[in-house]
Amino acid sequence: MRKTKKSEAEVAKQVNALLEGMSLAEKVAQLAQIGGAAWNDGPGAGEIIREQGAGSVLWLNDTAEFNRLQKIAMEESPSGIPVLFALDVIHGYRTIFPVPLAVAASWDPAVAERSQAVAAKEARAAGIHWTFGPMLDIARDARWGRIVEGAGEDPCLGSAMAAAQVRGFQGDDPTDPQRVLACAKHFAGYGASEGGRDYDPVDLSEAQLRNVYFPPFQAAIKAGVGSFMSAYMDLNNVPATSNRWLLQDVLRGEWGFDGFVVSDAFGVGNLLTQGFAKDGRDAAQRALEAGLNMDMASSVYLENLADLVEDGSLSLDQIDAMVRPILAVKVRMGLFENPYTDETLLEKVAAEPESREAGRWAAQRSMVLLRNQDGLLPLSKTQQKIAVIGPLADSMEATEGSWMVFGHTPAAVTVLEGLRAKLPGTAIAYAPGPEINRDVPHPFGEFNTSERKPIQTPEEAEAAFQTALETAAGAELVIMVLGENADMSGEFASRGSLDLPGRQEELLKAISAMGKPVVLVLLNGRPLSINWAAEHVPAILEAWQPGSQGGHAVADILFGDVNPGGKLPVTFPRNGNHAPLYYARTLTHLPEESPRYRSRYWDSPTTPLYPFGFGLSYTTFAFSHLHVSAAQIKAGASVTVSVDVTNTGQVAGDEVAQLYIHQKWGSDSRPRRELKGFARVTLQPGESETVTFSLGPDELRYWSASAGRWVQDAATFDLWVGSDSTATLQAGFEVVE
Ligand code: BGC
Repeated sequence: MRKTKKSEAEVAKQVNALLEGMSLAEKVAQLAQIGGAAWNDGPGAGEIIREQGAGSVLWLNDTAEFNRLQKIAMEESPSGIPVLFALDVIHGYRTIFPVPLAVAASWDPAVAERSQAVAAKEARAAGIHWTFGPMLDIARDARWGRIVEGAGEDPCLGSAMAAAQVRGFQGDDPTDPQRVLACAKHFAGYGASEGGRDYDPVDLSEAQLRNVYFPPFQAAIKAGVGSFMSAYMDLNNVPATSNRWLLQDVLRGEWGFDGFVVSDAFGVGNLLTQGFAKDGRDAAQRALEAGLNMDMASSVYLENLADLVEDGSLSLDQIDAMVRPILAVKVRMGLFENPYTDETLLEKVAAEPESREAGRWAAQRSMVLLRNQDGLLPLSKTQQKIAVIGPLADSMEATEGSWMVFGHTPAAVTVLEGLRAKLPGTAIAYAPGPEINRDVPHPFGEFNTSERKPIQTPEEAEAAFQTALETAAGAELVIMVLGENADMSGEFASRGSLDLPGRQEELLKAISAMGKPVVLVLLNGRPLSINWAAEHVPAILEAWQPGSQGGHAVADILFGDVNPGGKLPVTFPRNGNHAPLYYARTLTHLPEESPRYRSRYWDSPTTPLYPFGFGLSYTTFAFSHLHVSAAQIKAGASVTVSVDVTNTGQVAGDEVAQLYIHQKWGSDSRPRRELKGFARVTLQPGESETVTFSLGPDELRYWSASAGRWVQDAATFDLWVGSDSTATLQAGFEVVE
């Protein structure tokens, strides 16, 4: 039942009429997001909704229960205002897509948009109106577990992925019953948590925020994102939850955002832990005054806002101003007209074969070929005697990855299954080897029943190790599937080391010593310092956490039905201790290439194991005819950069043309390279395509720390175009006053 879009004047009129009829308690309840399932002790969601309504309910994933609660809201609560049902639908609802970091590795915004459109359609069919995504935190520290949820280290790539995800989730019609409201999170700077430790404080200069961490959020606003979530941590000693500069001055004042902001879970209550608020009253007042509309799960708004208004500490106008955008979203989405969900819809929607196709396509496009010595890949389909080895080879959890939807049971095609489906006539032996586990169990593990199994004893692990060796010994080719379990990245999943956990590397070495060809498939949600493998294992495919069709996609690539074309959206450091490591740094002294200053560490090279933007193909490409439209432009004008990309190999394939610039001097020191444009192209053998980029004021200006404002300097620029951040094909131009 599709409703026509309301004009903004109609929306405002309906919202004002609602506000006029609402009691203070009802208004406060619109500012609360309450837990539908696992929540604080206290009255259940139904009871609160019946008495005063609720802005939103989260942590519930049950269509019948949504309808039951909605009926209470519509028919029994005083003003009959529908509830927004919210859930973390991060990379798929039933059809699980590659994790966002993997999608970013496609360097193809169409992958992000199509994946999130399917996720939205399935989630909405289950009764979910609002997802807590996209996650837009730039992350330059591979130890931080939540790097898996975002688009990696770069603001240019991150902004493209941000906008695409918003388009996928929301579409362009808020009443579309196949879309959900998106939420740009975590505003802002969370990716820079000190030491990569989750929730730890963040100190970022305004220049860093504006040049690096804000752009994906601005891109999301441009794409029409309807809501924001504030981050957990302290940003420069002010909690993001109650940071007026962020939520008011920048978000609304400068960027004109007119949606609403929700805290992160328990964020308002956390203001006490952060040593910021004196008590609940103080927390509620200061968060609201800073511009935080909705309190996620802490009850601090519910418990304190009415008192604060009654004793004159807050005005009713302040409350109304916070409620208005929440009601406006409900009106715009048509929830008053269509509050309920057909309980038979999800199964029909989830069965649509296009969704599985989209999942397989997204996984294929996300994978990155890291090594392929002597063209070991693609493998021949007439291969005899294959052994598949590794704790993740047949793990549905590791294949679907981090951030499963609440209550979801993994149902992935594992790598083992994908290979067996690809080669039905071939006997494929399998041994998992020793299992891998977190040393410190995951605090959210209790929500994830499928991962709760007894941990192997050392004896059992040794037996599994020996069985894996025997299985490999009987094969002519070994495919090893190693990496990290799903719970080793994500929230509360930071790591000090980036090595393969457990005995995986030992097993890899022992099997490699047998002298057979070995292919390594990595399933992981962050960069891994696979130094030994990078030198000794002939073929390495970074498959990330590829989602429910992931096993098919791996088989498609290993056997040459698909030529991999993904590129790393993050730098792979040689060691966890090197984090944060990213390409867009400023430099002092001489560049790394100098014979004297080769490394910043004396005990290992500081260069990455794999640079940002890196990825191989089964074919080869050449870049030529780099041309800049003008040698000199005036500040404010644009130049066009063009380059020819040619497939110089024997098979069709994809290349990502990447444009980097370096401003050679300026008001501030500028990063050695910055990505300013990219394009993924598909080319037949021998085919060429001319790719063009534009560099204008948007690309050339930056927030200057020394000037305290946006500047576009008159300066000379180097630029490079090529297949990764070490591209050597170079040109330049000059900007004059
Ligand atoms: C996470 C958010 C998430 C929220 C709701 C928090 O712990 O930081 O990213 O959206 O929980 O589940």
